[in-house]
Amino acid sequence: MSFTTASASSSSPPSLTWRMLHPPVNEVPFWIVQVSLIAIVGVHFLADVRPSLMSGSFPTGVPVALLVIPIGYSALRYGLAGSVATTTWTVVLWLPDLLLPHDEGHVLDDVMNLSIVVMVAVIFGLRVEAEHRAQARALAVETGYRQLFESNRSPILVLDHDDRALDANPAALELFGPTVIGRTSRSIFSGSTDVIELSGKVLTFDNGHDYRLDATTLPLGPYAQHVQLGFEDVTEERSEERRSREFARQMVQVDEDQRRRLARELHDEPLQLFLHLARHLEALGSVDGVPHEVTSGLALARRQALEAASRLRTLARDLRPPALDQLGLVAALSSLVAHIGESGEPSAQLEVRGEAIRLAPDVELGAFRIVQESLNNALRHSGARHLRTTVGFSSDHLHLEIVDDGRGFDSDDQAQHVGTSLGIVGMRERARLLGGSLSVHSGNGLGTVIDATIPMVVPSALLTVH
Ligand SMILES: Nc1ncnc2c1ncn2[C@@H]1O[C@H](COP(=O)(O)OP(=O)(O)OP(=O)(O)O)[C@@H](O)[C@H]1O
Ligand SMILES: [Mg+2]
Repeated sequence: MSFTTASASSSSPPSLTWRMLHPPVNEVPFWIVQVSLIAIVGVHFLADVRPSLMSGSFPTGVPVALLVIPIGYSALRYGLAGSVATTTWTVVLWLPDLLLPHDEGHVLDDVMNLSIVVMVAVIFGLRVEAEHRAQARALAVETGYRQLFESNRSPILVLDHDDRALDANPAALELFGPTVIGRTSRSIFSGSTDVIELSGKVLTFDNGHDYRLDATTLPLGPYAQHVQLGFEDVTEERSEERRSREFARQMVQVDEDQRRRLARELHDEPLQLFLHLARHLEALGSVDGVPHEVTSGLALARRQALEAASRLRTLARDLRPPALDQLGLVAALSSLVAHIGESGEPSAQLEVRGEAIRLAPDVELGAFRIVQESLNNALRHSGARHLRTTVGFSSDHLHLEIVDDGRGFDSDDQAQHVGTSLGIVGMRERARLLGGSLSVHSGNGLGTVIDATIPMVVPSALLTVH
């Protein structure tokens, strides 16, 4: 397939009247039409003036009908302007015949036949004119597309129906090299078969630049119904995004490191001290000869030491649940939910859907933190009676849903918490860092639903194209 390289004229095409008044006198067909007209008009005139010539053997209407040939030809070649101009000129040529004395000529017949010819000429001319316009529009679209295609600084490839590169603009030739023409999309995009699926994704090229791919099926023009692939250079935008994502990742990392360190220190020092204290108090209480009041005081102190140790253990576990690393997300969530349910109010349930499998540590940790913060929020703010957590494992995504039947809140009011309340912001950030998304559905008196979807495989951010 090739393009017409005619340049599109920026001025509008000449009007119908202008074209009628400016016949193409330099063209031979124009003069052939004139000669045929004069010949037909002449034959008819002679037939009318000298009826004996024809003596009824030659049908008088035939020469009039013959006008359809030159007029039709003019319409085909020059559109409506051609047919109208030729018809007008024919009527002028016919005038002497129409003015013949009444005993000569067939004025009524001629007027009727001429009217039919005029009507046919106009209808034919209109049709051809519309056809010409459509062709001109198609040419303009084609030319315009070509100009955009050639001058676009973004690389553009056009794929044929077999997914082979059929055309490439200069920017694409520079990016992919001249051998790209004829290559399949599979070979260009390292095995990815469906380019439509790649649409919207960002690809990293060997030249170190990131391009966002846009695949569209062209509706018009020379490549109608072919797929056009545009590559928008988003290197700058992506670097910004990467920097902010990296910053957020580091913040989360710092937070996790602090929690882990704090959990270890709580476990190793104050917790051990309280346990040691409890043992010591127990030993003191069992010494012979200690008065009863002292023994019961020591027993109370021991229980308090054990209670403090238990709270510290809970705190340490919330900071970094050991079950998460050792047994996985479901075990850690079971323990979290069971702990909430121990007090009886609110009731807390965990439902697992699909086959629970171990996931990447980042995914498990992120998911755990989202559920943990959602449940903490429900406990702190909602006054709910029932909390339900659902963890769904599908083939490629992890779905989390935390529902409470508490007082709910208006998320529009959240603007006032900006800067002070970090829970929901943090949950969203965690989901985003893992390539997923999180939404909060709530309203005053409606309870709250937190919904998160996280890909099971942490996105490697970018595809690489060779
Ligand atoms: N489940 C819920 N029910 C009712 N209100 C809620 C719920 N979850 C959040 N909220 C409202 O949204 C606000 C913001 O929650 P967010 O978790 O972001 O911050 P926070 O819990 O106030 O503080 P923190 O930074 O310690 O998490 C809360 O202060 C509360 O008013
Ligand atoms: Mg919170």
